[in-house]
Amino acid sequence: MSVARDTRLWHPFADMGLVRHEELVIERGEDVWVWDSQGRRYFDATASLWYANVGHGRPEIAAAIAEQLSKLEAYSAFGDFASPPALELADVLCDRAPMPSRLFLVSGGGDAIDTAAKLARRYWSELGQPERTVLVSRSAGYHGTHGFGTAIGGIPANREGFGPMPESAQVAHDSLADMQETFARIGPERIAAVFVEPVIGAGGVYPPVDGYLEGLAELCAQSGVLLVVDAVINGFGRLGSWFGIERWEIEPDMIVFAKGVTSGYLPLGGVVISEQVAEPFWGEPGGPVFRHGPTYSGHATCCAAALANIELLEREGLLARGRENERALFDALTPFASSGAVSEVRGGVGMLAAVELAPDVLEREPRAVALTVAAAREAGVLVRPLAGAVAVSPPLTAGPEHFALITSAFEQGLQAAAPAALR
Ligand SMILES: Cc1ncc(COP(=O)(O)O)c(C=O)c1O
Repeated sequence: MSVARDTRLWHPFADMGLVRHEELVIERGEDVWVWDSQGRRYFDATASLWYANVGHGRPEIAAAIAEQLSKLEAYSAFGDFASPPALELADVLCDRAPMPSRLFLVSGGGDAIDTAAKLARRYWSELGQPERTVLVSRSAGYHGTHGFGTAIGGIPANREGFGPMPESAQVAHDSLADMQETFARIGPERIAAVFVEPVIGAGGVYPPVDGYLEGLAELCAQSGVLLVVDAVINGFGRLGSWFGIERWEIEPDMIVFAKGVTSGYLPLGGVVISEQVAEPFWGEPGGPVFRHGPTYSGHATCCAAALANIELLEREGLLARGRENERALFDALTPFASSGAVSEVRGGVGMLAAVELAPDVLEREPRAVALTVAAAREAGVLVRPLAGAVAVSPPLTAGPEHFALITSAFEQGLQAAAPAALR
């Protein structure tokens, strides 16, 4: 239920002309549930913004945060400084990564994308190939809203009005041939890296077509282009593994992560960097320095939250749940594909899915996505609007009994948005 007042909080990605009087104020959370300021309970079918992987209100993480705060809230990781939680997190994540690696920590996904993009270019420059600057990415990909992330994002509206962007090239997300042609056209000797979300999230939930990721990894290996996996959504159990990419048995050059690393209890992101990419900077004293890093790199309390979250994912078997429940979540939505109001239901790889509204529905009612989301909310389920689709990505603690709530919320949502189209 929205509360009418004139807010002073500028919401990201929001129509502030509308939202200024219509905020949904979430006050409390417990596992898969959240409560608004009117005391109304909702099933959080989106895990907030794709991140509440272990669910809300976990006392174990709150206790770890409180304990760390009482010892040392934070200290710089610049130069030779470190804190015990940062060092432990580096070991824990590198031990779980699919390749021998080192860890760079930042404050979120956009930070981490910019870190990977800068390091890719810096690496080639160090290797005497400074002309390798182009960053290749896929249509519908989303890589956050920092400079490089905006430039390589595959949702054109997110670049509008920002002027010239760093050099990048976009390819169709589902065509390896397009990637190969783009490599040939630009010349691999000018390409620094390819950025790829294994399952595209915010751009509409697109699992990779069969063989795409394996083919891309081979192409990158042949041409020397760095492969950067964006696991910001895919990681920490969403696809049933630590970094999402393991199920394709690919060893990337870098893995960007954020969100589920702390399940959102505190902000944290980072890049797992292969030994090969780290090597030029980790040789003899006096060697090159990567002059990059935000103030809160290695923030002790954020790292303590991550360690507690990782322990929960492991101890409660939640890591595997993203894969165990992927079919059940998909099955809860697939019946809508034949409803008349829907053109496609996407999902089945990990615990995320999207229902794409039919073009004629959107033509007749341009607000159909918003109406679906509003009616689902009225039914007590929070779902997420994406361009022409509505997405879900519940906490990993959710199971089939919760997916039934999603089904009935979509029934009500489509009834409100496209009554005439329903069969
Ligand atoms: C795949 C992906 N990469 C990067 C980002 C950016 O992360 P942040 O919003 O923490 O900057 C996001 C955010 O949604 C994302 O989904």
